[in-house]
Amino acid sequence: MVVVLDFGGQYNQLITRRIRELNVYSELLPFSTTAEELRKMNLKGIVFSGGPNSVYSEGAPKVDPAIFELGVPILGICYGMQLIASHFHAKVERAAVREYGKAIVEVVSESPLHRGQPQSQQVWMSHSDMVIAPPEGFVVDSKTEQCPVAGMSDPSRNIYAVQFHPEVNHSIYGQDLLRNFLFEVCRCEGSWTMHNYVEEAVQAIREQVGDKKVLCALSGGVDSSVAAVLVHRAIGDNLTCMFVDHGLLRKHEADLVMETFADHFHMNVIRIDAKARFLNRLEGVTDPEKKRKIIGEEFIRVFEEESKKLGEFDFLAQGTLYTDIIESGTATAATIKSHHNVGGLPEDMQFDLVEPLKTLFKDEVRALGTELGLSDEIVWRQPFPGPGLAIRIIGAVTEEKLEILRDADFVVRDTIRKAGLERDIWQYFAVLPDIKSVGVMGDERTYAYTIAIRAVTSKDGMTADWARIPYDVLETLSVRLVNEVKGVNRVVYDITSKPPATIEWE
Ligand code: XMP
Repeated sequence: MVVVLDFGGQYNQLITRRIRELNVYSELLPFSTTAEELRKMNLKGIVFSGGPNSVYSEGAPKVDPAIFELGVPILGICYGMQLIASHFHAKVERAAVREYGKAIVEVVSESPLHRGQPQSQQVWMSHSDMVIAPPEGFVVDSKTEQCPVAGMSDPSRNIYAVQFHPEVNHSIYGQDLLRNFLFEVCRCEGSWTMHNYVEEAVQAIREQVGDKKVLCALSGGVDSSVAAVLVHRAIGDNLTCMFVDHGLLRKHEADLVMETFADHFHMNVIRIDAKARFLNRLEGVTDPEKKRKIIGEEFIRVFEEESKKLGEFDFLAQGTLYTDIIESGTATAATIKSHHNVGGLPEDMQFDLVEPLKTLFKDEVRALGTELGLSDEIVWRQPFPGPGLAIRIIGAVTEEKLEILRDADFVVRDTIRKAGLERDIWQYFAVLPDIKSVGVMGDERTYAYTIAIRAVTSKDGMTADWARIPYDVLETLSVRLVNEVKGVNRVVYDITSKPPATIEWE
């Protein structure tokens, strides 16, 4: 394993991911992790990440100095390089010109990090401070016009550092540099693959659970699906999955879940038909926050009531991801904790957690799903909110409106799929605003609903842009929605980004 010590830079998760892409397992840990803790991990390498601080300012984050004595190869990136320089008493100063963006470095040494690369190469810089001269024992490996030490190393101590960001795509040979660090310097094996991960994870689940019983709330989303199949691989019928059908799902969704998990994987899946309960409680409710609250509460009630009927469980399996864990903060080791309430389950439920995905990023979970034999339909599923179609129906939710929206949403998904745009658009769906308008169809006046199409590009849902769907695809959407969905006579396209709008309408 290679550890990335986190000094708070914006690309830190990315360093971990790039290392994993090279089939070396990597974790992001707080900068305050001690040498003693690291020694126990049997590390092949340590990376000091970038960060927003200046090494010479008061309270600047530092590493445990004993880390330099571990004999484990070190790579400092940006702040990480300045930290190494300052540790070895070299001068770090505010640069006369802040370097931000693309820059050209000239390689001026035989550093193994640059082996097989051109002497002159484009890199990504993002710094205000710089190392003026390397510490004693270090050689300069590269420089730019602005920066006399863009890279430096002391191969005898296996310490390497770069001012630029090899993890960013704009550093054209960045991945090669990381590869050289991992394989030439750290002598990693590169055997971390999803195939091997399955074996390890299955073993770990068996050790944790033994012959006890595990319950899993299966939603049909990627994370809970992959977690359930993995736990099933480990403990078979000692896993029971509960799938609560609240009636707010997309067309054919509930059947797909049952076909996949019960029929194909032969898992123990209990389907709870709670449609009537949810619709009852939602009757006449128009306020978006109230809708969300009612659905969340009702989900918990159903889960509690139904799980009691199934007998005793010792563990609850959840599809918590690595991002959920690191987003809860790596500033100190103590704050790395599981999100016990993922999925909205009550905090006082007495279960221990099985979280087999908690070291994985989303794209790795997808690769794992494929490795476990899940279909693309599940693995490449777009995000779908817990409260389901209820927050895409503006105004009160009724069975009639649900039916219109389900059909409209099906047409939107089917059209996008047939146009081959599924992986280009991050999320796409239909919304049913509470609008009826006048139209004319076959010489007849109509008075029917409007469907709004929402389609966005995004990385993580925090910000989003409306997708530039080609006009001919929009035309197909418009024609199909009016022709195939009863009760619809008008189609509009939502062209607001997030912010200022949100992705969902409620
Ligand atoms: P917004 O509408 O806030 O949505 O821009 C951002 C992303 O989050 C999804 N979303 C939810 N997911 N439970 C969920 O599991 C929810 O209550 C919920 N609300 C929004 C939304 O679909 C989008 O991907």
